[in-house]
Amino acid sequence: MDSIRILGGAPLRGDIVIGGAKNAALPLMAAAILSSEPLTLVNMPELADIATMSNLLRQHGVRVDQSALGAGSAYAEAGATGRTMTLTAERIASVTAPYDLVRRMRASFFVLGPLIARCGEAKVSLPGGCAIGTRGVDMHLKALEALGAKIEVTAGYVHAKTPTGLTGAHITFPKVTVGGTENLLMAAVLAKGDTVLENAAREPEIGNLAECLNAMGAKITGVGSGTLHITGVTSLHGARVAVIPDRIETGTYAIAAAITRGRIVLKGARYDLLDAVFAALRQAGVTVDQTEDGIVVAAENGLVGVDVVTEPYPGFPTDLQAQWMALMATADGASMITETIFENRFMHVPELRRLGADVNVHGASAIVRGRKKLTGAAVMATDLRASVSLILAGQAAEGETLVNRVYHLDRGYERLEEKLGACGAQIERISGG
Ligand code: EPZ
Repeated sequence: MDSIRILGGAPLRGDIVIGGAKNAALPLMAAAILSSEPLTLVNMPELADIATMSNLLRQHGVRVDQSALGAGSAYAEAGATGRTMTLTAERIASVTAPYDLVRRMRASFFVLGPLIARCGEAKVSLPGGCAIGTRGVDMHLKALEALGAKIEVTAGYVHAKTPTGLTGAHITFPKVTVGGTENLLMAAVLAKGDTVLENAAREPEIGNLAECLNAMGAKITGVGSGTLHITGVTSLHGARVAVIPDRIETGTYAIAAAITRGRIVLKGARYDLLDAVFAALRQAGVTVDQTEDGIVVAAENGLVGVDVVTEPYPGFPTDLQAQWMALMATADGASMITETIFENRFMHVPELRRLGADVNVHGASAIVRGRKKLTGAAVMATDLRASVSLILAGQAAEGETLVNRVYHLDRGYERLEEKLGACGAQIERISGG
């Protein structure tokens, strides 16, 4: 298994190009199942999770063609490096998403809604728990049942059938669910009549999916609000859609600049997607400026502790909670970090402590007391965002940090060592064979 070695302590200075958003790209790929015509996605990130989703879709019969971003395209000119992917689901060969693929990546569950809508039937493995919480799918299933799907869960699989097709319904989610909103959207676009979804997730990734579905001929309104209206159509056609820039990658590298008291220009990022994060950074004493060159994030010593509470968008994202904790471990004074989305997302705490961070967890909150310095050590990555928080802390720590089990990172951060290395980080991957 690969590990990453960091020699920390130096301020990071330079430019980083932000890639397409993993969590937008994955549901967009699943949306290809809804039409027999090609769906072309521009600005696709190159990540392990995207490869896993491609494999899953291929076994459903979807053709997946990839090419590098064409020179001269608007995205290439904006500095993006992603690929273009065309997915063609002319014929669905199998309605089964096997355990082996779904257990590796929960986002595989996104095929459920589109398969039922297109084929009237789906058999998708239950994803099971994961490192950050139990992560149920009950709301996905209840919403699909409300549209008329008959669902049985047997032998670890969700069997869904719609003998008479899907019909629009009025649905209220008891709690905001990003994946549940996406699955429901992809089913409701081909249902008969109107669907109203209340307490829908408002994450920008939902907006990207709705934009894609509308470009394919769907009728979705209310995007960006908590209430979505969907008028079903009988079929969808092909489209070409750009994946939004990754706001979590953006926030992660903004924190890299802050934690090393350096200066990084984030290129190709969207400023408007990170209001809560930039507000917290400014409150901590970090400078964040939107310029023609990109978003410039710079910090000097004297950062102060700032409390954050993770919340659904537009609140502070849970996917930046671990990185924020690493930053707060280096700020002056104490801060409280409260996690409200997942029940077990403090797995990075014992590892950050190994680097000298002073963190105490009390239920859903962690108290962080900033230290003058962190010190390098060997640590273990547990999930994607926990892994990157250790990379960030390692950049700030004096001496050598060795982050083990870094395969999690490759699921969500494209060419991380290269991007940080270009800003002066001393970081290298050690291949574990
Ligand atoms: C998405 O997960 C993201 N994944 C996560 O990113 C992100 O942390 C999360 O949204 C919250 O922003 C993708 O987009 C692929 P939820 P998702 O349904 O859709 C509970 C990363 O690091 N819940 O909004 O699975 C659930 O357990 C990842 O990139 C139910 O109880 O999140 C959680 O506590 C990690 N029943 C809460 O709701 C359900 O049916 C929110 O989950 C569905 C969810």
